[in-house]
Amino acid sequence: KKHIIIAIDGPSGTGKSTTAKIVAKDLGITYLDTGAMYRAITFAALEKGVAPTNKAGIDQLLQSTKIRFDNNNQIVINGINREKEIRGKQVSEAVSPYSAIPEVRSVLTQWQREIAGERSCILDGRDIGTVVFPNADFKFFLVTDLKVRAERRYQECLQKGIAMTLEEIEKNLAERDRIDSSRATAPLKKADDAIEIDTTQLSIEQQVKKIEDRVGVVA
Ligand code: C5P
Repeated sequence: KKHIIIAIDGPSGTGKSTTAKIVAKDLGITYLDTGAMYRAITFAALEKGVAPTNKAGIDQLLQSTKIRFDNNNQIVINGINREKEIRGKQVSEAVSPYSAIPEVRSVLTQWQREIAGERSCILDGRDIGTVVFPNADFKFFLVTDLKVRAERRYQECLQKGIAMTLEEIEKNLAERDRIDSSRATAPLKKADDAIEIDTTQLSIEQQVKKIEDRVGVVA
């Protein structure tokens, strides 16, 4: 079986992770949620009270924080499962400024390359096709109308028991897109050779099919 890398990038709430999880399962490859890594660093920083402007504090944090995924692909930070915390309002509203820090990106990019170097992976994020794996075998860039993204994320939060109103979610998605797209290091951007998919009118099944049709049978 050939080693393959599939990159799925795009703004927040376009269905990247839901789609990537299913494709990973269907193809029998690893799903890597790179957003969870940025959320984990943000959680640790908030817990320790380290501001994004505190360079020495961030360096120290990057050295001392142990992040891993458990067997269910849930995030574990310094030995404690924090899956629910990293999806909540506090982390969602703080993550973009921490993700803009070059040192944070460098450490996480290296980790992503290590994991995906050893096995076939589908990674979702903002800079996978542009920076982390510019030579990925397949690159997709998902886009969706903001209102639809907010509504979908709202339903997801209701299901997971995360307290955020529809208005808060819409504001948060728009604000993160703005910061993520305008940062100097590895901004959110479609790679020139990525296939753009507008998921506004698509169901999850249709989204998955569009990607799997392109990738074909890999095994
Ligand atoms: O994908 P998710 O919405 O969980 O990502 C949370 C945040 O992590 C994004 O808004 C962005 O600031 C950051 N991120 C990033 N690069 C990635 C993945 C996520 O900067 N590859």
